[in-house]
Amino acid sequence: MTAQTMEELVSLCKRRGFLFQSNDIYGGIKGLYDYGPMGVEFKNNLKQAWWKSMVYERDDTEGLDASILSSPVVLKHSGHEDTFTDPLVDCRACKSRWRADQLLENNKCPNCKSEDLTEPRPFNLMFKTAIGPVDDGSSFAYLRPETCQQIFTNFKNILDSTSRTVPFGIAQMGKAFRNEITPRNFIFRVREFEQMELEFFVKPGTDDEWHEYWINKRIEWWVNQGIKKENLKKIEVEKNELAHYSKRTVDINYVFPHGEEELEGVANRTDFDLGSHTKNQNDFKITSEVMKNFSSTTKLAVQDLEEKKWYIPYVIEPSAGVDRGVLALLNEAYREENVDKDNKRILLSLKPHLSPIKAAVIPLKKNNDDLVNLSKEIKSNLQTLGLGRVVLENSGNIGKNYRRHDEIGTPICLTVDFESLEDKSVTVRDRDTMKQERVSIENLSEYYKKYFN
Ligand code: GAP
Repeated sequence: MTAQTMEELVSLCKRRGFLFQSNDIYGGIKGLYDYGPMGVEFKNNLKQAWWKSMVYERDDTEGLDASILSSPVVLKHSGHEDTFTDPLVDCRACKSRWRADQLLENNKCPNCKSEDLTEPRPFNLMFKTAIGPVDDGSSFAYLRPETCQQIFTNFKNILDSTSRTVPFGIAQMGKAFRNEITPRNFIFRVREFEQMELEFFVKPGTDDEWHEYWINKRIEWWVNQGIKKENLKKIEVEKNELAHYSKRTVDINYVFPHGEEELEGVANRTDFDLGSHTKNQNDFKITSEVMKNFSSTTKLAVQDLEEKKWYIPYVIEPSAGVDRGVLALLNEAYREENVDKDNKRILLSLKPHLSPIKAAVIPLKKNNDDLVNLSKEIKSNLQTLGLGRVVLENSGNIGKNYRRHDEIGTPICLTVDFESLEDKSVTVRDRDTMKQERVSIENLSEYYKKYFN
């Protein structure tokens, strides 16, 4: 079972500290959200799982963490200054603004149903900010609209500082910014979000095969994070809807509570990006329509040792949204169950590696020195295993703690009772089955490690 409505998820997220509207106490700003105590742990765990699979578990990738503020020159030659636009329409009747493809049938305003609308005009989605102390418009930067451009501009730095040869990839996670005309559906479409992007450089001619490889790899990864395969759809992007850099893009769609939409895109960006950013473009046989006459100082090419000539690699790009991942996984894990005929419970059946809290240690009686001290010792021992956050719950209300930890997806709760002082054991309760078992404190570390492996 998943959540029935977006409202159920929004309510759980606020109630349990996953997500809050940003600038809430001043009325909020549309399209911006803050991750609360549970949200930040969950999001970090998701990013860590991606990094592990994209960098640590592979032998053909490197990582990068580049600046967010981006030179206009880079975004000119990436094509963003000219083409990163959405068609904007104004309603003359109610003064609201819409993306042309989000109007009601017969081109009516979604707010007041008026047909008195302006013609669509291109609206650039990039945010600008001044660089340096004088804001006279002469020196500015963009907040990056996608994380990958700095991967391309660092291509040679990374080649020179590692021993990589094509095929190889560069992975980066971090913030991206888009001034969306109509942010909507909670954290699905927002103005400040995070991406997890891999740019995988391959020899032209091998690109189609690598593209298929990454599409399948990425679907497999989302399934390993807990999304049912039947809730993921492979969608071929129509030729006339492809981004300016793409030869072919396959979207991995997910059935969100508001409908089926893109979770991740896997694009074949060809030699467009490295071609546009390279020095001496005319020296290469570039197959895509690159941005010409660039003053880059660096040749972004590699040498084919067999054919003894330089070429510009093609790029396969799996690009996932962290926030859309958070939304999809929360939805997927959401359950409502009858505990008995009078009681219901909500739980998040998250994979343990993603759970914000890995275990809660609960002394049966609040502020009882013996129980609390033993609980603290257990908590601290489990925490040092380094598998994620462990908490001590010193409120004395076991039922309330179980309910809270079910809702935030804590896989196990450990109760320390008076018997524990005698038999040196604790009661371990499993979130999903609610089954309880006694485990000796001596064996707890091994039990815990096995649980998370
Ligand atoms: N570098 C390629 C690129 O940026 P994209 O399809 O525009 O491609 C990639 O974005 C992913 O970033 C999307 O699949 C989505 O998960 C996420 N994303 C894009 N715009 C977003 C927004 N306004 N809010 C939240 N996530 C967004």
